[in-house]
Amino acid sequence: MIRRRKMVRSFQDRPLPPGTADRLLKAANRAPSAGFCQGYRFLVLEGAEEAAPLWDIAYALSTSDHTTADDSAEQVDALKRAPLVIIPLACKNIYLDRYAGPNKRLARDESVHPIPYWYIDTGFTALLTLLAVVDEGLGAVLFGIGGPAEIEDFRIRFGVPPEWDPIGAIAIGYPDPDTDPVPPARPGDRKPLAELVHHGHW
Ligand SMILES: Cc1cc2nc3c(=O)[nH]c(=O)nc-3n(C[C@H](O)[C@H](O)[C@H](O)COP(=O)(O)O)c2cc1C
Repeated sequence: MIRRRKMVRSFQDRPLPPGTADRLLKAANRAPSAGFCQGYRFLVLEGAEEAAPLWDIAYALSTSDHTTADDSAEQVDALKRAPLVIIPLACKNIYLDRYAGPNKRLARDESVHPIPYWYIDTGFTALLTLLAVVDEGLGAVLFGIGGPAEIEDFRIRFGVPPEWDPIGAIAIGYPDPDTDPVPPARPGDRKPLAELVHHGHW
């Protein structure tokens, strides 16, 4: 499953089997979380109508100051056929509260959290979702929603409270490799472990 996972950026216009979203979300909720905070939530967009505001944001991003080569309108055209999008969101306050509570007793302050567990834990849910997608015989990509303006726009359009940060959006569907705008990363593209790993001392 780990070897078969790769980002898929173009989808067939084909519905998913019943219960797919629930199965993926159950897998996501198996994630470990610091202090068992589970400081993550999921916004689930099923079908073109629910996801339309997200694609509006993505099209706007493709011509904004914050755009990158990965955000072209052609990429959005291919992505938006995805029948399901899951957006994992992280909340810092849940961790500040939990770690200031009776059995942790840290100051309720971000400075005592040099590593933001809220993003780590929510990232774990995203990876489990991507792996569960492979298990379902489907494909998916995690993509960034954009810069501060797009994140703000996202919160407004979907009624998301300000303390929740969408860490990205996971578009899910049956892959359409013939129209995928990005060639899949090959195993040989990865940096060798010799470049990544330090044994015993940095
Ligand atoms: C946090 C994160 C953000 C990403 N954002 C984007 C994105 O905005 N657009 C995109 O096409 N791919 C995005 N990717 C996918 C990476 O480009 C991809 O994982 C990488 O090229 C390796 O390919 P693979 O996942 O198929 O092995 C993102 C991946 C991660 C983990």
